[in-house]
Amino acid sequence: MMNCLRVKTRAWIVFLIFGFLSNHSQGLENKGDDTCKHVPKRAINTAFLTFVTEALYNERNVTLTVNTISTECYTCNLQPTITIEPQRNSCTILVDTRWKMKVSIGGDNFTRAASNCSENHLSTWFDEGGNYSIFISLLDNKISCGKPILNNWPNDSNIPLYVALGSFVGLSLLWLLLKYCYRTHVLRRLQNYLLQDSDAFTDTNDYSQQDLGLPTNLTEEDVNRRPAKERLKSLDAFRGISIIIMIFVNYGGGDYWFFKHSKWNGLTVADLVFPWFIWIMGTALAYSMRSQLRNLTSKKRIFWKIFKRSCILFALGLLINSSDGLNPVKMKSFRIPGVLQRFAGTYLIVATLHMIFAKPNDTNQYAWWKKFRDLTDYGWEWLINIVLMVVWLVVTFSVDVPGCGKGYLGPGGLANDGGHQQNVSQCTGGVASYIDRKFFGTNRIYQHPSCKEIYQSTVPHDPEGLLGTLTSCLLCFLGLQAGKILLTYPDWKARVYRFLLWGVLLGVIAVGLCEGSKNEGVIPINKNLWSLSFVMCTGCFAFFLFAFCYVTIDVYKIWSGAPFYYPGMNAIVLYMGHEFFHQPFRTFWGIQPRSHEVYLPINILDTAVWIFLSYFMFKKNIFISI
Ligand SMILES: *[C@@H]1O[C@H](CO)[C@@H](O)[C@H](O)[C@H]1NC(C)=O
Ligand SMILES: *[C@@H]1O[C@H](CO)[C@@H](O)[C@H](O)[C@H]1NC(C)=O
Ligand SMILES: *[C@@H]1O[C@H](CO)[C@@H](O)[C@H](O)[C@H]1NC(C)=O
Ligand SMILES: *[C@@H]1O[C@H](CO)[C@@H](O)[C@H](O)[C@H]1NC(C)=O
Repeated sequence: MMNCLRVKTRAWIVFLIFGFLSNHSQGLENKGDDTCKHVPKRAINTAFLTFVTEALYNERNVTLTVNTISTECYTCNLQPTITIEPQRNSCTILVDTRWKMKVSIGGDNFTRAASNCSENHLSTWFDEGGNYSIFISLLDNKISCGKPILNNWPNDSNIPLYVALGSFVGLSLLWLLLKYCYRTHVLRRLQNYLLQDSDAFTDTNDYSQQDLGLPTNLTEEDVNRRPAKERLKSLDAFRGISIIIMIFVNYGGGDYWFFKHSKWNGLTVADLVFPWFIWIMGTALAYSMRSQLRNLTSKKRIFWKIFKRSCILFALGLLINSSDGLNPVKMKSFRIPGVLQRFAGTYLIVATLHMIFAKPNDTNQYAWWKKFRDLTDYGWEWLINIVLMVVWLVVTFSVDVPGCGKGYLGPGGLANDGGHQQNVSQCTGGVASYIDRKFFGTNRIYQHPSCKEIYQSTVPHDPEGLLGTLTSCLLCFLGLQAGKILLTYPDWKARVYRFLLWGVLLGVIAVGLCEGSKNEGVIPINKNLWSLSFVMCTGCFAFFLFAFCYVTIDVYKIWSGAPFYYPGMNAIVLYMGHEFFHQPFRTFWGIQPRSHEVYLPINILDTAVWIFLSYFMFKKNIFISI
């Protein structure tokens, strides 16, 4: 006990020193100016678009209006972006290169625009770092526009990504090669060979077969006799993959759009990791509950533990919300929900439920339905989860939100959902957001939802709000199902078969709910709302990824799970750490130009720091869990 405490204290000291060394300063925001007087500065994820109006020289009275909108802004109208006064020969603006842009040009009240100035002709996907021109002239008192022309040859903005991936693969291969050489004693043989040892190639040990040994087929009785202590490395590796991607994307993800959260509907890499975490929490729960029940821990005590853990998670979440860089957070606008708070709520509900229905032993092994006993043994638990799902659906689609109607799932702002004739600009997040605003208060929820940028919504919306807790419980429960499968069926094929089946089933449900469309389905995939389709979709990926980890790490043992295995063993420390200490390498942020070439390596280094820290803790046998 004392020893453990000392280790913990030491770990926290390392942790605090580390945090002290990292930098809190905020990155500079560089926005293009929209007065058309200056050429804006080059910025990341943008291209220059120059409107050349020299051809209007003789007709200088014409005032042009340029309208733009990103296609990512679903059902948004073109927005006036800049006005080109009669006396200008050209005007340059920055355009977003992350998604296709709609562009149209209009004249003033006396000059109409030809059809080639409409969005159908001018919209395009601009290349990052490109320098585009649109030539504008006046023909028969009509403005006529040429197509955007690319003047330079910008580098592919994904090159840093390819380099990073290439280096990663290269280093991994090198590592494997070195390990192989070490294992097969190639070095020693080489040495022997060089020393002209006659026995050099007659090594009698066959090393090649040793590490490929498959697990022996255990009978079900064997497994029941075996204590529920099988520590799956794949569980930690899966958790590690989630936390590492989470740190990487929270640090900026090299400023690539697919490493950032979706603006509203849709799914990016960044959207996957938090749900995966919730899922794997469920899987681990199956193991901890089984071992507690087998140790004859009373339910009262188990519940007390669950409750305590939830409270600690919630408190840590509040602690994270209390720091905003170096600025102290005002009590009046203290955010209550958050990622760890969501974990706390989900854990409390799912773990308590599982505690009630979990069994210490695998019964029904010989019943005719034995192939489904991972499901049938937990009928009530399933029923309750289905009820939660129905509650989510009913609340989402039948509560009449004042001014927004029923079932609005859009981001508000510029979006104007076709089915809703009333002005929905204040309806961000529909009923989910409404509940949070009423329950916590407008100031106490997240103020910068990702839809703020593209949709220009003004209403706060919390992606970790109350209503989404219901669907995250479902996801945690699906992870728990994976745990039940592991506990019920000892044969690895039976396990993997079920994982894949679940993956396919959830995938089909997800595609059905979103109708295979990003924005047009009944329930679009949406991280901000934790929509049902989002949960199904991320659950589907989780089953597949876990099956992969399980087969490669625990079954065939062809991968040790490194480097993800170490962060997975200390996930909560890494989560807290990265939230508190921001980017360790942020001091380099002043470096110009602001580009992927600069950001990606910095974000990778930032992430690597945490991997090394977790490796260090692993080597020192420091494991902190709550
Ligand atoms: C420009 O506008 C002025 C008055 O505002 C008018 O007198 C002049 O004819 C116009 N020039 C052209 C080329 O239309
Ligand atoms: C064009 O028409 C609008 C509305 O009809 C008016 O507000 C605006 O002043 C007019 N602009 C010019 C340049 O006449
Ligand atoms: C874009 O390219 C043109 C032609 O090469 C050049 O004249 C112009 O200055 C460039 N614009 C910017 C903003 O770099
Ligand atoms: C734009 O369309 C008009 C007729 O609608 C045509 O006269 C003009 O040549 C076109 N401009 C370009 C640059 O294609």
